[in-house]
Amino acid sequence: MPTVDLRSDTVTRPTAAMREAMARAEVGDDVMGEDPTVNGLQEAVAALLGKEAALFMPSGTMANQVAVRTHTEPGDEIILEGTAHIYIYEGGGFAALSGVSVCCAPGERGLLTPAAVAAAIRAPGSLSHFPVTRLLCLENSANRGGGTVYTPARTRALAVVAREHGLALHLDGARLLNAAVAQGVDPAELAEPFDSVSVCLSKGLGCPVGSLLAGSRAFIERAHRFRKQFGGGMRQAGILAAAGLHALERHVDRLADDHRRARRLAEALARLPGLEVDLEAVQTNMVYIGLPAGADNAAWLAELKARGVLAGAVKPGLLRAVTHLDVDDAGIDAAIDAFTALAR
Ligand SMILES: Cc1ncc(COP(=O)(O)O)c(C=O)c1O
Repeated sequence: MPTVDLRSDTVTRPTAAMREAMARAEVGDDVMGEDPTVNGLQEAVAALLGKEAALFMPSGTMANQVAVRTHTEPGDEIILEGTAHIYIYEGGGFAALSGVSVCCAPGERGLLTPAAVAAAIRAPGSLSHFPVTRLLCLENSANRGGGTVYTPARTRALAVVAREHGLALHLDGARLLNAAVAQGVDPAELAEPFDSVSVCLSKGLGCPVGSLLAGSRAFIERAHRFRKQFGGGMRQAGILAAAGLHALERHVDRLADDHRRARRLAEALARLPGLEVDLEAVQTNMVYIGLPAGADNAAWLAELKARGVLAGAVKPGLLRAVTHLDVDDAGIDAAIDAFTALAR
């Protein structure tokens, strides 16, 4: 029985065509700025996001953490939504690597409001007591929010509040292209209000490795120093960048298929007895599934696995299924059948 792996969109394996593109890549020493494929990818991503420059990194975590370090000094504070990836899933890197504290603002389905951000900004009159609020970070799509998206208008409204108080803006755009495709908008429009934007190639785009950080030329020059300091300077990285260029050409429009499949899965599961799915939160490629009261995650995951379906556990009573390049319509049928068998 084939296994349908819905644990994450990071489980994709490079396609045969992607592997061929990687094998053909022209390479050089990227720490010396001499890898033509890395340089080409950086230029392509900067253009896609409407920024002056971009920098290739091994992971989304590093791209975010380099951004935080580049924007701040130790003792500063950054504002994040309480379920933000930078806050809960990056090993406390903001504290360990940048020496900053976090003020968590409450969100709705992972998304912040201008009022919540305004309330989280420290009063400037008390500078010697309070940390200095320096940076606002948003996440689009918002993973723990359900894969929810910021619209261009909501992003701009948040940027107005941040700018009024002199804050810099960073976007964790690990799945920015999902957010853009879901709304039918240009990724550059969603990126426009931000000083820096990270994007991942290794999620829905199907690459084995890689993320980029984009921003102004001056910002990226400073970020370059921190990438080196954090150990992210790679050498013949063009082999990896070639996968990124391949994915940007071939795997962006098809994200709409992932979203359609997530929607179909969500609507089917929402009809099953005892399961709870917030259909309003299903805006891209994720489905969060609330289990019946008292259900044991491990037992559900084992039963699903026995039926050829892998899902992820988020917290007690909450599972997650994510669609991606390696899940087709038959995989969604199999997942619906497996949950249907268990939900009786
Ligand atoms: C929203 C978000 N940001 C950042 C990351 C970090 O990416 P990486 O796993 O490449 O470090 C992830 C990973 O899943 C994510 O979901």
